[in-house]
Amino acid sequence: MTLVIAVMFLSKKIIEQNLPNLNSFKLPLMKNNIMSKLSRKEFIYQIPKAELHLHIEGSFEPELMFEIAKRNELKIRFKSVEEVKEAYKFNNLQEFLDIYYEGAGVLIHENDFYDMTWAYLEKIHAENVLHTEIFFDPQTHTERGIAFETVFNGVYNALQDGEEKLGISFEIIMCFLRHLDEASAFKTLESALPFKDQIIGVGLDSGELGNPPSKFKNVFAKAIEEGFLTVAHAGEEGPAEYVWEALDLLNVTRIDHGNRSLEDSKLVERLAEEQMPLTLCPLSNLKLCVIKDMKDYPLLDMMFKNLMCTINSDDPAYFGGYLSANYLAVAEALDLDNEIIYQLAKNSFEASYLSDEEKDAMIQKVDDFYLENQ
Ligand code: ADE
Ligand code: ZN
Repeated sequence: MTLVIAVMFLSKKIIEQNLPNLNSFKLPLMKNNIMSKLSRKEFIYQIPKAELHLHIEGSFEPELMFEIAKRNELKIRFKSVEEVKEAYKFNNLQEFLDIYYEGAGVLIHENDFYDMTWAYLEKIHAENVLHTEIFFDPQTHTERGIAFETVFNGVYNALQDGEEKLGISFEIIMCFLRHLDEASAFKTLESALPFKDQIIGVGLDSGELGNPPSKFKNVFAKAIEEGFLTVAHAGEEGPAEYVWEALDLLNVTRIDHGNRSLEDSKLVERLAEEQMPLTLCPLSNLKLCVIKDMKDYPLLDMMFKNLMCTINSDDPAYFGGYLSANYLAVAEALDLDNEIIYQLAKNSFEASYLSDEEKDAMIQKVDDFYLENQ
């Protein structure tokens, strides 16, 4: 009897929720809700998902930093891993960037870049990330005299091994550092041309305030001419105006972060209409004081406004967690149910650069997981 009442109650609840994308799943949902096997955390860590906003240099863990510094006979200004972690307290993006560029300074040889990338892949493999589209910042290294090829080959070879051995597919996006000038970005684009077939797009990162997308409109136009897709960090610390510029002047296919778009209702309307993906990074936003508390995270507001939201880790070694930790942090703070997490996981593939067939195959895996585990 209790079971019958429970089934009736749950059916009513599900019908009331009336989520458009879940209509075909009502029956399995009802059945499995009663026998829910996984905790929220397990559900998040196990659901198939993609990552679309990850700076590979931001996955450089202090332990590996010490190991690589030692083998390259370089000194780090910190005495221990604990001391490094203690320094990871930031009031804004620039404070983080200063220490992030310093950390990357121990990467010299191709195998250093390989090891850093491989360590990231092993981490995400353990939490069922099936596809990743990573950023790398060539200028962080070429400015210190490291050859573009050294950086690229190390990262690329690890990604290829990751695809072969761990089954993680990938794309590479090369970011221009926006605190440098457009001439330097042009030089970087030139260096990337021999690797054009292996780099799907160009992006824009580093200190946003005072470095609007318009500063890079010519180099982005050239990149598009050469066949690259474009993305840009916009609206992380910078105003909504920068998001407009990224759309109109850089012709981006995704906005990285985009939080401050919410300050401009016309912009929100446009982003929703175009289903322009936003690659959101909750733990990054918390650590860089874009939000005060995870409870203030505007994810539900954004989803309610029909924005195409995805969850990502940005710089996991610095911000306290990889992809699933980001899902979990928002899920706990906003008390998200599995249906929202399922939608976010699907969005991560939908907003990716996979082909339509590949997207369908990945989303089928997400659907299967959801039906099995809801
Ligand atoms: N480079 C690495 N992480 C970044 C971020 N969150 N914003 C801008 N540039 C970055
Ligand atoms: Zn970023």
